Amino acid sequence: MTDLTTLEADLSAQVAAAPDVAALEALRVAALGKSGSISGLLKTLGSMSPDERREAGPAINGLRDRVAAALGERKAALEAAELDARLAAETLDLTLPAPPRRKGSVHPTMQVQDEMISIFAEMGFAVAEGPDIETDFNNFTALNFPEKHPAREMHDTFFFNPGPDGERKLLRTHTSPVQVRAMQRTNEKPAAPWIATTIEPPIRIVVPGRTYRCDSDATHSPMFHQMEGLVIDKGIHMGHLKWTLETFIARFFEVEGVVSRFRPHHFPFTEPSAEMDIGCDRSGGEIRIGTGSDWLEILGCGMVHPNVLRLCGIDPDVYQGFAFGLGIDRLGMLKYGMPDLRDMFEGDTRWLRHYGFSAFAAPNPATGLS
Ligand code: PHE
Repeated sequence: MTDLTTLEADLSAQVAAAPDVAALEALRVAALGKSGSISGLLKTLGSMSPDERREAGPAINGLRDRVAAALGERKAALEAAELDARLAAETLDLTLPAPPRRKGSVHPTMQVQDEMISIFAEMGFAVAEGPDIETDFNNFTALNFPEKHPAREMHDTFFFNPGPDGERKLLRTHTSPVQVRAMQRTNEKPAAPWIATTIEPPIRIVVPGRTYRCDSDATHSPMFHQMEGLVIDKGIHMGHLKWTLETFIARFFEVEGVVSRFRPHHFPFTEPSAEMDIGCDRSGGEIRIGTGSDWLEILGCGMVHPNVLRLCGIDPDVYQGFAFGLGIDRLGMLKYGMPDLRDMFEGDTRWLRHYGFSAFAAPNPATGLS
């Protein structure tokens, strides 16, 4: 028993004197570890007579428990002291400037696209979208392109290799295939009689999206953005087209009014077809919209060709429509004075910092232009 008392006194003194958590851990292993002094004593219980064990068992177990408790208390005290020391020693200098925050910005193309959508939304247009990878049928055939039309050839269009069925997919060269998709939806039969009725015109949509052509210079990029417009209803004529586009241009460039002229042009999918020019002033090196006596070509448009209506399952004797196609990036360059189209897709963050927009200023169909 004296041995146990000495051992306990010894261990208590060492625990009290342990300078840090590491020294304390070494002590714990030396006493309670696998081959520690107390563990060794516990092992001797097995070879004792029942009488001896009745006396020694509680004594050794008690010693183990008291030593373990002392170790735990000392550990908590050492840790608290370490934390106090760190709190006293370490300081945080709140007067130092914060590290710079990297702020993103909205790409001009997306800003301009949202501006355009907001203006057309005010006029009652909905937004429709379609895939970048299109069928030859939707991109060309349904839009009344003759079989040998030059725009189908490799120099303009990015074609994919033909699939096992011989079908040659392509990257859409314009957003006009979404016209086809929208018009074809009017013929969809309801999945079941109680689900929905067939969708009827009027159609009033704008279609923003990426388009692709094999072309690259300061005003052409192999990938660019277009916005298509399509209106199908009864009694639609060129007057509606002219009003819609003039109203849009005046809102977009924030000018009082615009003069426009429609030059005859050719698109296979519209008849008559036109290119719209708007009045501008080029004196002084920059283009000012809404004044002056110069002209700026701005978009392609026309009345939807009866063949296209027919191919999309709409009766041209009942419905008419107009369509137009605008270059989103090109319109942005004009409004915000960006000189080179290719810069828009370089991903240079310095350019984006200069021409980008705050995400908090983004227009949307609900709030309109800011
Ligand atoms: N799809 C034509 C183009 O990309 C533009 C256009 C659209 C013309 C709709 C007329 C009507 O050049």
